[in-house]
Amino acid sequence: MNSPFNPPTTTLIEAIKTVVGDGGWKAPNDAARYFSDPRDRFTGAACLVALPRTTAQVSEILRLCSGAGAAVIPYGGGTGVVAGQLSIDSDQAVILSLERMNKVRSIAPEDGVMIAEAGCILEDIHNTAQQHGMMFPLGMASQGSCTIGGNLATNAGGIQVVRHGNARDLCLGIEAVLANGDVIEDLEPLRKDNTGYNLRHLLIGSEGTLGIITAATLIVKPVDPETVTALCAINTPADALRLYHRLARSLGNSISGLELMSDFGIGLVSGHFPNLTLPFANRTPWYLLVEASGRTGLRDDVEQALAGCMEDDLLTDAVLAESEGQRANLWALRENTPEANRLTGAICSSDTSVAISKVEAFIDAASAAVKQVHPDLRINSYGHIGDGNIHHNVFPPEGMEKPAFIAANPGVIDAVRNAISEATVQCGGSISAEHGIGRLKTDDLQHYASAAKMEAMRAIKRALDPKGILNPGAVLK
Ligand code: LAC
Ligand code: ZN
Repeated sequence: MNSPFNPPTTTLIEAIKTVVGDGGWKAPNDAARYFSDPRDRFTGAACLVALPRTTAQVSEILRLCSGAGAAVIPYGGGTGVVAGQLSIDSDQAVILSLERMNKVRSIAPEDGVMIAEAGCILEDIHNTAQQHGMMFPLGMASQGSCTIGGNLATNAGGIQVVRHGNARDLCLGIEAVLANGDVIEDLEPLRKDNTGYNLRHLLIGSEGTLGIITAATLIVKPVDPETVTALCAINTPADALRLYHRLARSLGNSISGLELMSDFGIGLVSGHFPNLTLPFANRTPWYLLVEASGRTGLRDDVEQALAGCMEDDLLTDAVLAESEGQRANLWALRENTPEANRLTGAICSSDTSVAISKVEAFIDAASAAVKQVHPDLRINSYGHIGDGNIHHNVFPPEGMEKPAFIAANPGVIDAVRNAISEATVQCGGSISAEHGIGRLKTDDLQHYASAAKMEAMRAIKRALDPKGILNPGAVLK
């Protein structure tokens, strides 16, 4: 939806400043951090950054902007990688950052819920849950800065989806402000509620294009008594999946993390972070990080299960973390992968998914497609194999720097992106697994989604945001 929006008048800007009061807004020349992209590909802009403290203030700002036909871009922690939070085509939008709405309103372990405002940092939510003997099992490398509002707006995934699901699976209710300023209050911790259309699930994953989530009722679960973390040396991604299915059969529903890493990727991580080393004497082509959490005694079962898998040649070596420090070290190998890729000069960082059974075929197909673009491109395939969500990071040929390679090969970035999307779709997959559409993938969505789906999405957008003021240019062009 490309509805042109009106440049805000001085009257509108002043009215918004009055709503939020002193300290509640920033001028563009004081707001550089809201314009930066974590992967340095885009630069945003705005005419004002508003920092409301209450839902009533969000409502009032949207009522004003809706009346004036002015664009509003909701902003969480700024960690999104598809430019959903960045106005890249216009400096006329108002950025509405939820960062000052960062209170945990309540926690009720007996209901298994916590009510948190949108601007709460994910890690703070983890800590609050922990203080009550509970956990909130949404985890990702950016958890120290991403916010729960952004997590829900993008239906974030991360590293525990294999057991606990995506953000939407961990949310029982939301409070949200619609484009016209109306407030939907739906925070009751109900496990069953079939009263008509589910607006919560409509707004979750809508990337701020249908409404602004201001608070959410989150599912918290009792902390598992034991957590076991193992790194397995394996030969192929198919072995990783065989291993997963074997472990899942003997360990029940306790596998909470399953991350594939390539030897090439491990080399990049230890190159950029020399204190992070692989705990094996010998290198193998692939590694699988497995985490299981559950009842007391689980560790013995995991050890036994891995020994059985080793006898059957599903893995060639394995280490179990013996301490929290060792566990952190194993996870650091995985969690520093995106940063190592960035520092190495990745020209593409994909986020697509296929059915679990097709992961190996998909990795082969995507690699072959990238090599067709340029035979010397290097590829690090890694990620959430238990969700069928493999990220491919693609690098210039050995010895070539990113700027020089891009200059010598115009169009190569789009060619690589398209090659991976095409390989994904050929495998029956999705061109956006967990990062969303944002502004990066609007053309891809338009290209791959059916006409019926696009028209239904546009109709929903028209109904909830008739003036097209909410995050214009994101998701729908
Ligand atoms: C990860 C991010 C890139 O899995 O999604 O590291
Ligand atoms: Zn990921």
